[in-house]
Amino acid sequence: AEPSYILAIETSCDETAVAVVKDGKEVLSNLISSQIATHQAFGGVVPEVASRKHVESITYVLEEAMDASGITPDQLSAVAVTQGPGLVGALLVGIVAAKSAALAFGKPLIGTHHIAGHIYANNLTDEIIYPCIALVVSGGHTELVLLESPGRFQVIGRTRDDAVGEAYDKVARAIGYPYPGGPHVDRAALESEEVISLPRAWLEPDSYDFSFSGLKSAVLNAVNQMKMRGETVNKGAVARGFQESVVEVLVEKAVRAMRQFGGRQLLLCGGVAANQGLRRALSERCGREGLPLLIPPLKYCTDNAAMIGAAAHLKWQEGQFTPLDMKAEPGLSL
Ligand code: KG4
Ligand code: ZN
Repeated sequence: AEPSYILAIETSCDETAVAVVKDGKEVLSNLISSQIATHQAFGGVVPEVASRKHVESITYVLEEAMDASGITPDQLSAVAVTQGPGLVGALLVGIVAAKSAALAFGKPLIGTHHIAGHIYANNLTDEIIYPCIALVVSGGHTELVLLESPGRFQVIGRTRDDAVGEAYDKVARAIGYPYPGGPHVDRAALESEEVISLPRAWLEPDSYDFSFSGLKSAVLNAVNQMKMRGETVNKGAVARGFQESVVEVLVEKAVRAMRQFGGRQLLLCGGVAANQGLRRALSERCGREGLPLLIPPLKYCTDNAAMIGAAAHLKWQEGQFTPLDMKAEPGLSL
């Protein structure tokens, strides 16, 4: 079969990202312009600011990604773009750029799901084997997804409130770390000798859903009590208590899903896949139980466009193109 060359664009949150991917696995170029420094001053992502920043960077990032790829526009098979979920104003910028490129180059458009991208990031460095279970953990999402075959996503569990990365960032803020706080909490948790005791949200015995808002409130209460008693907040003990609760529930539910659905691989993906505590606990547990575990390198875990190219390749193979009047879908489901 002829190879595919996909120009992929991702602007669903705070990274302006463009990549060129060959055959859904070979990354010819992968550019990211991050807005984190801009949003840091606000303590989180400000949607209006994100849109404006995407507008400022998209043309440059797109040109650079094409230049670095070593291929010419006429060699492209399609232009892919994240259609949702995400911030509507941010998505729109990528979509307008993708439509313009598709029109100018005379190539088909492929609207792509952001979570499909996170999952298919695993194909950039490995070969996904089916059926598999994906544990998607990011700032915006916490989902357990069953794939019985390529591109067939069944969400078997999701968070009922905060996403896990979001909970990390809120806890980090409460104990005084800058945005995004996840990595700070991770480090503090692993270095601490002390730990406070916090609840685990298992929900109903057979549920694969998650809940992190109760845990987050328990952390905030514990921090307030320390302050009221005039103690200095023991950041490490709080971080470790929080992380151990999160990791225990994520690992347990992912492994249970692998058993129930006969998963041949467990795929960990999304920005929180960078969490050392989670990686260690999951590797150790999977190792002990003989379950194959895939984790993409960090650059493909956090938001990027190469993963969108990887997911779009599947649609290209099946000739699933998207009309040029496609709209942003901030609440798109898998
Ligand atoms: O996937 P991502 O880059 O963006 C979204 O699609 O949301 O994930 C970003 C999230 C942030 O909430 C950040 O705090 C979290 O991933 N994160 C971490 C770690 N590194 C990044 N959370 C916990 N531990 C980490 N080491
Ligand atoms: Zn993401």
